Amino acid sequence: MQLWNKGFEPDKIIEEFTVGSDRELDLMLAKYDVEGSIAHIKMLQSIGLLKKKELDLLLPALEDIKNSIEKGDFKIEEGVEDVHSQIEFLLTAKLGDIGKKIHSGRSRNDQVLVDLKLFFRDEIKRIAEACNKLFARLQDLSEQHKDKLMPGYTHLQIAMPSSFGLWFGAYAEALTDDMQILLAAYKIANQNPLGSAAGYGSSFPLDREMTTELLHFENPHYNVVAAQMSRGKTEKAVASALAAIASTLGHLAMDICLWMCGNFGFVSFPDELTTGSSIMPHKKNPDVFEIMRGKCNRLQSVQNEVALLTANLPLGYNRDLQLLKDIMFPAIRELIQCLEIADFMLQHIKVKSDILEEKLYDYIFTVEDVNRLASEGMPFRDAYKKIGMEVQNGTYKPTRKVEHHHLGSIGNLATERIALKMKNIMKEF
Ligand code: ARG
Repeated sequence: MQLWNKGFEPDKIIEEFTVGSDRELDLMLAKYDVEGSIAHIKMLQSIGLLKKKELDLLLPALEDIKNSIEKGDFKIEEGVEDVHSQIEFLLTAKLGDIGKKIHSGRSRNDQVLVDLKLFFRDEIKRIAEACNKLFARLQDLSEQHKDKLMPGYTHLQIAMPSSFGLWFGAYAEALTDDMQILLAAYKIANQNPLGSAAGYGSSFPLDREMTTELLHFENPHYNVVAAQMSRGKTEKAVASALAAIASTLGHLAMDICLWMCGNFGFVSFPDELTTGSSIMPHKKNPDVFEIMRGKCNRLQSVQNEVALLTANLPLGYNRDLQLLKDIMFPAIRELIQCLEIADFMLQHIKVKSDILEEKLYDYIFTVEDVNRLASEGMPFRDAYKKIGMEVQNGTYKPTRKVEHHHLGSIGNLATERIALKMKNIMKEF
């Protein structure tokens, strides 16, 4: 049975194909659908489209549905198209004609939009929390290992001394940039589409400011066509935030895979957090970080999927938009999973000490030596040449002097300033 039934049933094949994964995915929207409906009917009553006593019957019935959703008892039944239909059917089954009244001045197009905005708003906050937790872990590790030097690379060739403090701290600060993008997505999601109805408004005198306030949105999407256009646009913004975070996390995963490799051995994890090989008995593999790297790479393609799905759609609602849920919902879940497992793994990371003592890194202090000569008065180019020639003819003696770096950029982690950046962003969610 469809909400739009007017005397004929669609063919079963058509129904299954068009409903797709909605019966499953819409469960994520159920709670928000009820919240949207509660705001909508309070507003309908305020403009005289519902009587007070009708509202008083509808509100507890909607609360009951909300409870069943929270308890996990709510289902979208076979033959029911989506969550919006299921909730309206439940209300009508319980209250008869009054249940049918809630849809005045509303279309499923603005209904699903409002659900999605509320859903994205909450999910973005969950992502922000997970990022913030990982951020704190990275900051901690950065401080904890600030004196442990490691090689820095350019072109994947040994370059200059770096430190574990810098490495962990780099990913913490990178996350603050990603969070700016996430915050932008949050602001885009935090606008009320309710009242735009099918996308062209309503002839009822709907009070859109009232539903905006009730649902704690920052403001309405004032233009009803813009409200409808925000389906797809919001997803694009969220997808670009997912991509930003995934790119940082994927990069971190790659570093770890490389550095767990026996040729480096810079970091390791307790045996029980590694995985084995079915043939090579000695193997301790970084599967967690490989899966993370793979997922994070894939997550960066979500924005392309959204862009292609919505490219050149005619203005107004089109059913293609339904498929955005198939792309976005699993992607959000996956990113949160990656953030959580990254935090879990890093809690157990072991970092190698005295790496730069190895002969392999004899030349890593040459820039130090050049700089020291230059600060003693020798022109930089001459100092560069002198050390360069020593390296070339094999007379260079590694000094392993790092004081300069400790006072300079390696020692300067600015942990507190970076923490303040994050704190200020977090306040805005
Ligand atoms: N399941 C639909 C979606 O997610 C709900 C909106 C249906 N609207 C319509 N005009 N058929 O887009």
